[in-house]
Amino acid sequence: INNGLAQTPQMGWNSWNFFACNINETVIKETADALISTGLADLGYIYVNIDDCWSGLKRNSEGQLVPHQKTFPSGIKALADYVHGKGLKLGIYSDAGLFTCQVRPGSLHHEYDDAQLFASWGVDYLKYDNCFNLGIKPQERYPPMQDALNATGRTIFYSICEWGVDEPALWADKVGNSWRTTEDIEDSWGSMTTIADLNDKWAAYAGPGGWNDPDMLEVGNGGMTYQEYRAHFSIWALMKAPLLIGCDIRNMTAETLEIISNKEVIAVNQDPLGIQGRKVYISAADDCLQVWAGPLSGQRLAVALWNRCSKVATITVGWGSLGLESSTSVSIRDLWKHEDISSNTVDSYSSQVDAHDCEMYIFTPQTGSLSEI
Ligand code: GLA
Repeated sequence: INNGLAQTPQMGWNSWNFFACNINETVIKETADALISTGLADLGYIYVNIDDCWSGLKRNSEGQLVPHQKTFPSGIKALADYVHGKGLKLGIYSDAGLFTCQVRPGSLHHEYDDAQLFASWGVDYLKYDNCFNLGIKPQERYPPMQDALNATGRTIFYSICEWGVDEPALWADKVGNSWRTTEDIEDSWGSMTTIADLNDKWAAYAGPGGWNDPDMLEVGNGGMTYQEYRAHFSIWALMKAPLLIGCDIRNMTAETLEIISNKEVIAVNQDPLGIQGRKVYISAADDCLQVWAGPLSGQRLAVALWNRCSKVATITVGWGSLGLESSTSVSIRDLWKHEDISSNTVDSYSSQVDAHDCEMYIFTPQTGSLSEI
């Protein structure tokens, strides 16, 4: 939607993947502190998003949502003030149904009041979930909250979370700033790769103002290897996915921080052209050897060689799969090694890639012209 937000995919942190319902205002404040002290905020991770379970179990006697008294005793306004004081933005969560997925009150038929309340607290972002939806189509349930958010006069990022069930890529760009394309991610290689493939199908529908959302990052949560997390982060960046960190950044390892703070990979995600990269090549010999790529500003290309097989292998990207003439001379920068590795490669490029790892490059064609890929 045209609310001026999401010119590039949103970046920040969300409580769900690591904390689930075990959240409280201290966790949120300490996370805001950690975004600053780790340097992640300076890299663009500015949204601090509270997911499900911030609310009490019932609305109050005036029918308003109330923060859970034990876990958020100071209230959401105080939290928003704290987060804003650090130059960050605060996100909150509700549901386009009778209840949230964890059975807190939902906002269906309370859109106007709840949007006013969120705005009065200084909320900057709403993730709007899909549980207990009474079987009403999302195309009917999501627009009322868009109108309600607009009516507040506050600019609020609108993240649609209907899990891809009603092909949101086809309609949600007029309603929200991002839309989930799949069911929930899990902290596993199988889940991550499946979701990447599902999200890939909708590449044509993403762009500045509205992005496909293959769900939040699991990097740092322990269920995948360093290589797998690096692949996860590379492909999410290339797909112009929201980069919402989902681990406990107060206690993350140096490896986790290295992955999520890779400036060159983040720059691919935040490239102003805003075109979602996609799977452009699958090896005939082994369909787990893949090339994912997409155009960047300045006539450049982001290219990922992704080895989804269980053994180290050589992956070759031919210029044909990138829409380049084979005689085009390409300079290549490796975004994980942070090195220029060639200035005049023609026809194809090959690299040995570890099992479940992903190499990521920027290709800059020196001559010839770039056609559509
Ligand atoms: C759904 C959403 C998740 C998370 C949980 C919270 O499953 O898809 O991202 O918000 O609800 O209950």
